[in-house]
Amino acid sequence: MKKVGFIGWRGMVGSVLMERMQQESDFSQLTPIFFTTSQVGQVAPQFDGTSVSQPLQDAYDLDLLSQLDIIVTCQGGDYTHEVYPKLKERNWQGYWIDASSALRMEKDAIIVLDPVNQTVIDRAIQQGIKTFVGGNCTVSLMLMALGGLFDKGLVEWVSVATYQAASGAGAKNMRELLQQMGVLENVVTNELKNPASEILFIEKKVTETMRSAEFPTEYFGAPLAGSLIPWIDKAMSNGQTREEWKGMVETNKILGNEGEPIAVDGYCVRIGALRCHSQAFTIKLKENISLAQVEELLSQHNPWVKVIPNQREATIKELTPAAVTGTLNIAVGRLRKLAMGEQYLGAFTVGDQLLWGAAEPVRRILMQLAT
Ligand code: HSE
Repeated sequence: MKKVGFIGWRGMVGSVLMERMQQESDFSQLTPIFFTTSQVGQVAPQFDGTSVSQPLQDAYDLDLLSQLDIIVTCQGGDYTHEVYPKLKERNWQGYWIDASSALRMEKDAIIVLDPVNQTVIDRAIQQGIKTFVGGNCTVSLMLMALGGLFDKGLVEWVSVATYQAASGAGAKNMRELLQQMGVLENVVTNELKNPASEILFIEKKVTETMRSAEFPTEYFGAPLAGSLIPWIDKAMSNGQTREEWKGMVETNKILGNEGEPIAVDGYCVRIGALRCHSQAFTIKLKENISLAQVEELLSQHNPWVKVIPNQREATIKELTPAAVTGTLNIAVGRLRKLAMGEQYLGAFTVGDQLLWGAAEPVRRILMQLAT
């Protein structure tokens, strides 16, 4: 069995990965070794009944790391930047699987999303590529949802508006969002109990609280509860944010389209959802195909995509973060031809940012390489 080192398995994405691996009994198919950056020698976890006799190992011990067949890291980009080049210098021949974006755009790294790019992955393995990286969550979730159209070469361009959950910013941000919600409710608890209270008075108190210096905004830098933040990640030089920039470059890299890239652009917005990213698309199709054909192509592309009828009841029950969170489902709905013309398709999708958006593509490439 392959010796697989896990780094960052205790963080949020790492925990979801561990949970999924247990659900799928993956640990029985490999020899796991658990590493730590801060608690060397402490007791290692025993996932899935796998007996792990070794204590937690030092995640910076290059001698130990270079004995592994596969390293899976959910530790973040700083760890990758520190350790990966040193292992490469030692001519380590194992597979490096990374949930962070640190190596995504490297020439010899493949962005993995196997239901969408298994042929790109197969070719890379044959060519001896050793570095496999999970994609940006919005990009992976878009491609899982619209894979049927990309696969058939039907997409001329995509314009997107995202509605991104707090989880994409990290565990501390999720906590801050909930704290913000709590503070806002607290300030008007009594008024809410009294049906005669003026709603505009309530709103004024909430808005004042949101704008006060005491409102908890350490991680987001701005109120999110009761508001939104139309900026995610750093600025690029062309007016895009880095999150917006990733949309086009990662989509085309995943699809192996680098010669003739499909334009993907739009606005990435943080909203007060906990762990599901939603996205509204305007898609320019290369051909005028019917909505029925669109639905068929989308639903047949992979087993997780669920086409939701463009009706109120189905939409508010099934096409929401509340409905999709914690599942592997990729809900896609609100499908309709737009006023711009028959080749313009509208669509809305919702997917779990920590599952298909982060841990699941990583888990699936691990199991391909380990077995
Ligand atoms: N950058 C994403 C976000 C998460 O901020 O929502 C990581 O893919």
